[in-house]
Amino acid sequence: MRLDKLLSNRGFGSRKEVKKLLKSGVVKVDDSIVKDPSFHVKPTEDTVTVHGDIIEYKEFIYLMMNKPPGVISATEDNNHETVIDILEVEDQLYEPFPVGRLDKDTEGLLLITNDGQLSHQLLSPKKHVPKTYFAVIDGEVSEEDIEAFKKGVVLDDGYETLPATLVILKTGIRSDIEVTITEGKFHQVKRMFEAVGKKVVYLQRLSMGPLKLDETLELGEYRELTDEEVDSLKNAHKE
Ligand code: URA
Repeated sequence: MRLDKLLSNRGFGSRKEVKKLLKSGVVKVDDSIVKDPSFHVKPTEDTVTVHGDIIEYKEFIYLMMNKPPGVISATEDNNHETVIDILEVEDQLYEPFPVGRLDKDTEGLLLITNDGQLSHQLLSPKKHVPKTYFAVIDGEVSEEDIEAFKKGVVLDDGYETLPATLVILKTGIRSDIEVTITEGKFHQVKRMFEAVGKKVVYLQRLSMGPLKLDETLELGEYRELTDEEVDSLKNAHKE
């Protein structure tokens, strides 16, 4: 990788600004001052320092966000704040994107990464990655609904869903439930409840494959995944 690209990626400004920085002689690669912007570095092997501070380089970033309501699961939007807008600038430098979408009003677990291969694996319809949601339903969720979800329900566009697991936590005029689905159609959970004549009034994602929402994260907070969490995601869905 070119030295100027690495420094630019790590937040040292545009290529032009990085060129100036290099010219001033404060950048070292393995103890030798380097001024050539096109100098080739092996980011995982060479030690690059600026003013003596080591510049850490990693190719991929993996973040778990507790998505707050009111922000869009997209990288850019002209009218609304996105989940990328609320990341720290140093994390935005990795050009991450959300893995799949949660509706604007949905809260909870959102994986944000720049690892396209992992994202592809997790979203592939062939892999049937389970996603579990907590929801509050306007209406009395019943045993019949559990049976209907187990068989698969027909959505408003005629699509018959794969079997889903519905667990009633509390029932009444409002019910608390957990539902696990293994596909990701547009507004799927809301439309599945519409198919049985009920309305989702609150939706929160709790897990995606082996990854569970870290309950210590406040809405809008995020953290890097641990190495174990990254490995579990990578290993869970190998073909
Ligand atoms: N299902 C929905 O209806 N909305 C979401 O945000 C996620 C799953």
